[in-house]
Amino acid sequence: MIRALVTGAGGQVGAQVARILEGRAESIALDRSRLDLCDSAAIAARIRETRPQLIVNAAAYTAVDRAESEEALARAVNAVAPGVIAEEAARAGALLVHFSTDYVFDGEKSSPYVEDDPTHPLNAYGRTKLEGERNIAASGCAHVILRTSWVYGPLGANFLFTMLRLGATRDELRIVDDQRGAPTSSLQLARAVLALFTGAEPARPISAEDIARASGRRGLYHATAAGETTWFGFAKAIFEARRRGPNFKVPRLVAIPTREYPTPARRPANSMLCSERLERTFGVRLGDWRAGLAETLSALPE
Ligand SMILES: NC(=O)c1ccc[n+]([C@@H]2O[C@H](COP(=O)([O-])OP(=O)(O)OC[C@H]3O[C@@H](n4cnc5c(N)ncnc54)[C@H](OP(=O)(O)O)[C@@H]3O)[C@@H](O)[C@H]2O)c1
Repeated sequence: MIRALVTGAGGQVGAQVARILEGRAESIALDRSRLDLCDSAAIAARIRETRPQLIVNAAAYTAVDRAESEEALARAVNAVAPGVIAEEAARAGALLVHFSTDYVFDGEKSSPYVEDDPTHPLNAYGRTKLEGERNIAASGCAHVILRTSWVYGPLGANFLFTMLRLGATRDELRIVDDQRGAPTSSLQLARAVLALFTGAEPARPISAEDIARASGRRGLYHATAAGETTWFGFAKAIFEARRRGPNFKVPRLVAIPTREYPTPARRPANSMLCSERLERTFGVRLGDWRAGLAETLSALPE
């Protein structure tokens, strides 16, 4: 069995990746209390002492609006730390799997973005994530960067829980309907990470050959669920699915334009990413966003 190190293991994606690697890799899952990505020396020491063959960096500064006033901190976690991890991965001969974001784009394109489209982040979070991608590429380490979007799941702070919480107390929710994207569940994403290595055999352990094969396919990939919606459409689907439960209160949903919901960080109107390269190269598909939502809802306590 290979040795894998997962950072950000307390986050939505990190927790699911750590869980799915159980029994398939000798996995070392580190949350912020066990590895602070602002501490470059600690990152290097951890990687040197554990000598992983695979590193999955799921830690990130993800508070998109707060990043506008904390760009230096966001840069430390999203750009500097991935660079340090990548240099250590290169030194150790490990493969680095890292996550990036639709927010590297400005959303002006009318169709889904492909990996080679020009980037132009609208906000500090997107800028720091893009720098992280570049630092990884510059390190020369074997890497797979998965750009994803609108992540939610059964654990963590996300749009799904915000809707369920607000819906329980308010009669009406006003939701932005002019930003398009694909909600992607942490479960779908964690399965995709595993499938980079084990393909259609998810039950078996990851081997050194799997890592070598994936390293040969290194690069930048878009990895989102299939289909598209808006935040309003996502909210509607959440409440429609939950309506089936007994005694569930459904608020009135009102579609609004972004200009009626001002936030510190600007967001792209089009967050759609084309994930065909991932499918062509690795045979990996994440599945439809509605299937991801149904699976996630069924994993929640009633
Ligand atoms: N969430 C989205 O909608 C979205 C969209 C596109 C791409 N992504 C990317 O997907 C990846 C996973 O995101 P996610 O949704 O799982 O985010 P998340 O739930 O916010 O998890 C990120 C984790 O990183 C940890 N972290 C933050 N600063 C750290 C530090 N200095 N040292 C160590 N750990 C630190 C956080 O710890 P604390 O909980 O203690 O802060 C958290 O557990 C990230 O690369 C993100 O940029 C996310």
